[in-house]
Amino acid sequence: MSALVASGKTKELYTTDDPKVLRVHYTNHTTAGDGERNEMIPDKGAVNNEISSLIFGYLNQKGVATHFVKQLDATDQLNLSVKMIPLEVVVRNLSSGHFQKRYGTEYLQPLSRPVVEYFFKSDELHDPMINDSAAEALNIATEAQLKTMRETALKVNDLMKSLFKSMNIILVDFKIEFGITDDGQVILADEISPDSCRLLDADTKQSLDKDVFRKQTGDMMTGYREILDKLKATLK
Ligand code: CDP
Repeated sequence: MSALVASGKTKELYTTDDPKVLRVHYTNHTTAGDGERNEMIPDKGAVNNEISSLIFGYLNQKGVATHFVKQLDATDQLNLSVKMIPLEVVVRNLSSGHFQKRYGTEYLQPLSRPVVEYFFKSDELHDPMINDSAAEALNIATEAQLKTMRETALKVNDLMKSLFKSMNIILVDFKIEFGITDDGQVILADEISPDSCRLLDADTKQSLDKDVFRKQTGDMMTGYREILDKLKATLK
């Protein structure tokens, strides 16, 4: 028996026979502008399930503690059940998106060190930026949990930057989320896919990620499939 536990903008979570493990189903929903645009893009769920499985498998191998257990089939994977921390942790290597707007920088301006930012997950408030002391004061996360998240985010950045570099792809920025296990450990959760990363072809600087959907500049899935093919070839 499998029951729906929760459903987000792009994924559905189901119980399994093991109370510590959930089955996560990746849907074709694709959202932009705080969920204002929500379209079904054929095959996106399957491609992101596979991409996220490959990246999380790679991170597990490199010693990052994650919720990823295994890929089950085309659209589903098994993840450890965790209590999600309602923060989006964004890491940036080059200026883009909100960072570019906020600080008036050029698109793809290099940053002299990776930037880590936190956003409080709240649809009502439109995910406002939040700092460490506010997150602690509002009991969203403890000082120790924030330290773990920051250190893990920078490690994930180093690992992913070199993985993508070997594929001739530039990792501009990405968003990750964390959860807490039954025994209180903070581990990497949610997904890592072109929905949540900015990835550019190093030669042409073409976007291979959700910016194609956000800016409506072409067929988003072409870039997603290229990322998947290159990951398969690199991580085989
Ligand atoms: O992408 P956008 O301009 O909305 O915001 P950003 O803060 O510039 O996004 C930084 C990175 O986090 C990008 O790779 C986004 O794809 C990702 N992100 C995400 O996955 N989910 C969000 N709700 C916001 C950002």
